[in-house]
Amino acid sequence: MPAQLISGREIAATIRSDLAERVARLKADTGRVPGLATVLVGEDPASQSYVRMKNSAAKEAGIHSEQITLPADTPEAELLGLVAGLNANPDIHGILVQLPLPGQIDEQKVLEAIDPAKDVDGFHPVNVGKLSTGATDVLAPCTPWGVIQMLLRTGNSPRGKHCVVVGRSNIVGRPMASLLLRRGEGGDATVTVAHSRTPDLGAITRQADILIVAVGRPDTVTADMVRPGAVVIDVGVNRVDAPDTDRGYRLVGDVDFDGVREVASWITPVPGGVGPMTITMLLSNTVDAFERSLE
Ligand code: GUN
Repeated sequence: MPAQLISGREIAATIRSDLAERVARLKADTGRVPGLATVLVGEDPASQSYVRMKNSAAKEAGIHSEQITLPADTPEAELLGLVAGLNANPDIHGILVQLPLPGQIDEQKVLEAIDPAKDVDGFHPVNVGKLSTGATDVLAPCTPWGVIQMLLRTGNSPRGKHCVVVGRSNIVGRPMASLLLRRGEGGDATVTVAHSRTPDLGAITRQADILIVAVGRPDTVTADMVRPGAVVIDVGVNRVDAPDTDRGYRLVGDVDFDGVREVASWITPVPGGVGPMTITMLLSNTVDAFERSLE
């Protein structure tokens, strides 16, 4: 029997509707709403589209949202000044600087300039450090945090499971491992992290009860690399040429979906899997940051 699909689209819609209710209640109680600022430097089409989606999703949930777009040749000092202004702005509770940034700007310096309490991406070293020491009162990076929600909401709690994470990026792989290791709901897993330099990757992935793949390369995981009955979460989003389509390309994940769905018990599709969860958890982090600012 082929695997059941984990629909990020459906889970995201449920969480977004809960968030909209939470925002409405907070507005009634405090007279204020959470505020999100997104900063885009340059004109990369993919980044433009992500930032647009983040803003419109925020507005739909009743979150105040400001998009700041700067030219590609913006000096680093100007961006740092903008971030300082947003840190001091009482109407803004979440700040997201879209990555990657143009070459003249030191990405790490910018991430470190964001007030950790407004760091809804969870990329500030203070939040990275807190998460890796097991803190639960921390803003966690949106994509791995979304993966945890998908697992919990399909009855696939990581507790006591062997989770294999393939990928060691700061945005997904590393925080994914930290979240799975944390004590408590959504964590308590045994975690192995593999990556592009892991020899005999299949020998590792075949041990996984829950396999999470985030390397950015199609067909990284094929059916022979998956234990029958495993839960497979595909974080990859890759464009592959498809001349027969209108856009000329197709989106695929890092997992050979057609092959692996015959072996796994649950699998996320691409698109419509992890993708919609990332933006949803950004909204969730923004509302959490607002609530904490009231304390
Ligand atoms: N670029 C790709 N993914 C992300 C993300 O999650 N946050 C930000 N700020 N930039 C990104």
